[in-house]
Amino acid sequence: MKNQETAQAPEARVHWSSRWGFFLVTVGSAVGLGNLWKFPYMTGSNGGSAFVLVYLFCILLIGVPLLMAETLLGRRGQASPVGTMRLLVAEAGASKAWLAIGYIGIMGSFLILSFYSVVAGWVLEYTWQAAGGFAPAPKEAFGQAFSDLLANPGRLIFWHTLFMAMTAAVVLGGVTSGIERANRIMMPSLFLILLFLVGYGAFAADLPAAFRFLFHFDAAAINRSVLFAAMGHAFFTLSLGMGAIITYGSYLDRATSIPRICLQVAVADTLVALLAGLSIFAVVFAQGLEPAAGPGLLLQTLPLAFSQMPGGQVVGFLFFVLVVFAAWTSSISLLEPSVTLVVERFGLGRQVAVLLVTLGIWLLGVAVALSFNAWSGVTLFGLGFFDLLDTLTSKIMMPLAGLLIAVFTAWVMQRRHVADEIGLSGRSFSFWYRVVAFVSPVAIAIIFLNVIGILG
Ligand code: TRP
Repeated sequence: MKNQETAQAPEARVHWSSRWGFFLVTVGSAVGLGNLWKFPYMTGSNGGSAFVLVYLFCILLIGVPLLMAETLLGRRGQASPVGTMRLLVAEAGASKAWLAIGYIGIMGSFLILSFYSVVAGWVLEYTWQAAGGFAPAPKEAFGQAFSDLLANPGRLIFWHTLFMAMTAAVVLGGVTSGIERANRIMMPSLFLILLFLVGYGAFAADLPAAFRFLFHFDAAAINRSVLFAAMGHAFFTLSLGMGAIITYGSYLDRATSIPRICLQVAVADTLVALLAGLSIFAVVFAQGLEPAAGPGLLLQTLPLAFSQMPGGQVVGFLFFVLVVFAAWTSSISLLEPSVTLVVERFGLGRQVAVLLVTLGIWLLGVAVALSFNAWSGVTLFGLGFFDLLDTLTSKIMMPLAGLLIAVFTAWVMQRRHVADEIGLSGRSFSFWYRVVAFVSPVAIAIIFLNVIGILG
C-alpha cells in the first residue's frame, strides 16, 4: 500500500476505490466554508436572488467546463500538479512555461490553507460554544464576542493548530484509507444534517421568506459588482485552479466518465450552497435579523438566532458540526497537492511529507492569526496579511490558473488527446471544447482585467 502511494510511475499510482469514492472526495473538496460561510453572506450582501442567478450561470458556463478540464489534466498526468504538467507539456511538445499551472496550483493551495485553517479555527471555537448553548444576550454582545476572539492570539492559534492537526491526521492515512475514508463518513453525515436543518427551517423558522429572498429573480438588481463577485465565487466553491482537482483527478482510474461525474459534483455543491442558504436565511428572517450582515452572518447573526430559538442548542450545535465537516474535507484537498509533490520530488515517505508541509502551512497560519491582533498594523498594499492572502489567491491566482488551464487544454494539448481523455464525442464534445476554448477564457479575462483595474 505504502509503496503504491509513493511510487512515481503512472501505472503504479493509487486510485480511489470507485467512482462513488471520487465523487465523495471531490464534493468534499468543493463543499466548504465557501458554501456555508461565503455564499450566504455574499448572497445577503449582493441583493439575494440577483447574485444567485448570476452565480448559477457562472457555475454552468465557466465552472463545470473547467472542472472537467482540470480533472482530465490530472487523470492524464497521474502525478502531482507539477508532475502532471511536466508530462503533458512533453506530450504536447509545448513550452516549459506551462509548468506554471502546476506551480501556481501548489503555491495557491498552500497559501489558501494557511488562512482557511484560521477561519476553520473560528468555527471550531463556535462549535465548542454551541455545544454548551449560546446564552441569550443583546445583539451587540455577539458582535463583541467575535471581536474578542479575533483580538486573542492564543485562542486563534490554539484552534488553528487543532484544525491543522485534524487535517494532517487524515492525509497521513493516505489516499484511500485516509482521504477517501474520511469523506465517506463525513459527506453523507453532512448531507443528513443539512436535510434536518432545512426541515427545521420549514417547521420552526421562516422558510418561505428565505425562499423568496433566494429565488425571487429580479434582473434589475444585477450589476457589475454582483457579476464579478459571483464569477470569483464560482471558482472558489468548485476548488478550481489551485491544484486540488488536478491532484484528485490524478487518483482517478481510466474507466470513470469525467463529464458526468463533474456535472454531478457541481450539482451537489450547488445544492448544498442553496440548501444551506435556505436554512440560514430561514432562521435569520424568523428572528427578524439582518440578511446583509456580511462576513459576520455565520458567527454573529446565527449564534444570536440560535440563542433565541426553540431547540436552538441542538440545532446550533448540529449546524456548526456541519460547517466543521465541510471545512475539514476541503482543507484535506488543500493539503494533499503539496504533499504529493514533496513525495514525488524528494522521494520522501508520505508521513514525513505531511509533517513538513503541515508545519510550513501552520507557521504561515500563525502569521495570519497574528494579523488580526498583534500585527494588525502591518500592511502591504494597504491590506493586512489575511486580506492580502485572500486577495492574492482568490482574485489573482485562481482566475490566472483557470485561464491558463482553459488555454492549455483547448489550444496547446492535441485535440485527439483531449477527446480521448474526456470521453465525449460528436456534438457534446464540440460544445464543451468550444466553451473551454472561447467562452471560459474570455469570461475569465474580463473578471481578471476588472480586478486589476480595481486594484490599480
Ligand atoms: N471549495 C472550497 C470551499 O468552497 C474551498 C477549497 C477547497 C478550495 N479546495 C480548494 C478553493 C482549492 C480553491 C482551490 O470552501
